[in-house]
Amino acid sequence: MAQLPDPLKHRTADHPIEDLFLRRWSPRAMSGEAISEGELMSLFEAARWAPSTYNEQEWRFLYASRDSEHWETFFNCLVEANQAWCKNAAALIVCLSCKMFSRNGKPNPVHTFDCGLATENLLLQATTMNLVSHAMAGFDRSKARVALNVPDNVDIEVMVAIGRPSDADVLPEDYRDMDKHPSGRKPLSEIVASGPFSF
Ligand SMILES: Cc1cc2nc3c(=O)[nH]c(=O)nc-3n(C[C@H](O)[C@H](O)[C@H](O)COP(=O)(O)O)c2cc1C
Repeated sequence: MAQLPDPLKHRTADHPIEDLFLRRWSPRAMSGEAISEGELMSLFEAARWAPSTYNEQEWRFLYASRDSEHWETFFNCLVEANQAWCKNAAALIVCLSCKMFSRNGKPNPVHTFDCGLATENLLLQATTMNLVSHAMAGFDRSKARVALNVPDNVDIEVMVAIGRPSDADVLPEDYRDMDKHPSGRKPLSEIVASGPFSF
């Protein structure tokens, strides 16, 4: 199997954490090989165990494997810049969140947040399975709503590409450099303050 760069060679944590957080990254190079239904279900299983307000579990996931009849519908929702590399994905996932509490029908102010927690679980699980996972905001939400029959009380949050890793050669030339170096992060001093807002 072709090798992507090892994020652990490019990323260092300033404080002790599990390697998994550094190993998760968002490459674009995928081989086009399929992944099994079982592997996909492991990703959703990880998402399922995320915390949520009142244990609402308001996340919903739609998916299309590349060999399924739904692939074109999902793929056509992506902006061209994402289609360019997602053509080699094994599956595309649309992450949704229900906007109202099921218990009382009132607006849930943290539906997007909870869906984000579940989605991160999914991305981390994919990392443990040596799969590429890459979240995307670059898609047409209106198109997705109609094409996938998503009701108005459900928000369309992100799409995620899942696939088997490949090396950057499979990517269009403009994209190859992006996969060479996993990104870094701001120092904690820029994102954490003791006490009031002081950035
Ligand atoms: C909500 C969200 C939307 C994103 N949208 C896109 C996208 O449309 N296209 C893309 O190539 N990457 C997209 N990304 C990937 C980010 O660019 C990437 O996560 C960020 O640069 C940090 O790099 P890392 O994930 O490799 O650590 C998105 C990530 C998130 C979380």
